[in-house]
Amino acid sequence: MPETIVLAYSGGLDTSVATKWLQEARGYDVVCLMVDLGRQPDVESARERGLSAGAKAVEVVDARADFLRYFVFPALQAGAVYEGIYPLATALGRPLIAKLLVDKAREVGATAVAHGCTGKGNDQVRFDVSIRALGPDLHIIGTARDNQMNRDEALEYAAKHGIAVRQTAASPYSTDENMWGRSVEAGVLEDPWAEPPEEVYAWTKPLAVTPVEPAYVEIAFDHGIPVALDGERLEAIDLVERLNALAGEHGIGRIDHVENRLVGIKSREIYESPAAVLLLEAHRSLEAMTLTKMQSRFKERVAQEYSDLIYNGLWFSAHHQDLAAYVQSSQRYVTGDIRMRLHRGTAVAVGRRSDLSLYSHALATYSAGDQFDQTAAAGFIKLWGLPVEQQSRQQLQLDPRSGDPLQLGGGE
Ligand code: ARG
Repeated sequence: MPETIVLAYSGGLDTSVATKWLQEARGYDVVCLMVDLGRQPDVESARERGLSAGAKAVEVVDARADFLRYFVFPALQAGAVYEGIYPLATALGRPLIAKLLVDKAREVGATAVAHGCTGKGNDQVRFDVSIRALGPDLHIIGTARDNQMNRDEALEYAAKHGIAVRQTAASPYSTDENMWGRSVEAGVLEDPWAEPPEEVYAWTKPLAVTPVEPAYVEIAFDHGIPVALDGERLEAIDLVERLNALAGEHGIGRIDHVENRLVGIKSREIYESPAAVLLLEAHRSLEAMTLTKMQSRFKERVAQEYSDLIYNGLWFSAHHQDLAAYVQSSQRYVTGDIRMRLHRGTAVAVGRRSDLSLYSHALATYSAGDQFDQTAAAGFIKLWGLPVEQQSRQQLQLDPRSGDPLQLGGGE
């Protein structure tokens, strides 16, 4: 009796071909699992295609709510942005898909799981590492890694085996989408000097046609999690989808980055993450009101560690649990409202308020009502500057009349 394998299935050409190939070349019964993280293409035609490729079953899981709750929002709270620019949409989706693959494998008694990742990317790493953490006994097949078919060979293989392929012209790009963003690579994008053609974008308007007038949206956060827009409490899915539409309309969230992959190469990636860019900026602005300087500074370091960890596929690790515990604790007082202005590709915080704000008008003001004790400043500065003064006297011999206006010396 053939063993069963559960395949992470998208409904596209590659995973449809993989469905057939796993039966034919590897002798498995194949269960296709489509994980809906938002923005899924037509589920019905994908199901048909999977069945036409010989799958025993094509199952769909709506994981959108879990994706936001357990993956996206914790990353938002952490301020996790890879290399300061990529909100990690694809990277955040992988460990959840891996978990659902393992769950399904247990349910159907499968001995193996498969994904369609190539051998060059980060996604294979995220899948494999997560699957090994959750189901170490399961055999893992990376179909594209193993069968090494190029696009023409895949099309030929599909035709030979009667697999329905969509009639649209084949896109030269490799894309991945979920509610947190869209990732696009390959084709002309492989030339880092080439400006991305407009066709690579799907969620955001080009600046030339975005509205002349700015839009405003008020985002309410509760412990660092967005819960309402313009005073209306919303379910997470609804909130994020609305912001994707609104920010996309204003051309917000286009990202063009040459990034350092885990597997050692640099690659040129285009991302569209309208809601993510908007929410990350709003969240950062609220933290500026509610965290102390020390908390903010330390949290920036944690954010970088956290984003590297997500990017590098280490979601199911104790290190992640430890960082996540810190992040949760850091969000205790991150509750309040941010008013964002959306205009011509930019999302800017223009208003902020919080009952837990550390901003004090009485301390900050230069007008009547000032409660800052200016007489305390002189003594503070004297002690603050004491080491500088002492070092200058003992070691540096600073001479403002020298030809060295910056007094950088040079250690002669
Ligand atoms: N480079 C990004 C990452 O590693 C996106 C990968 C996108 N995947 C794709 N099939 N286009 O997270």
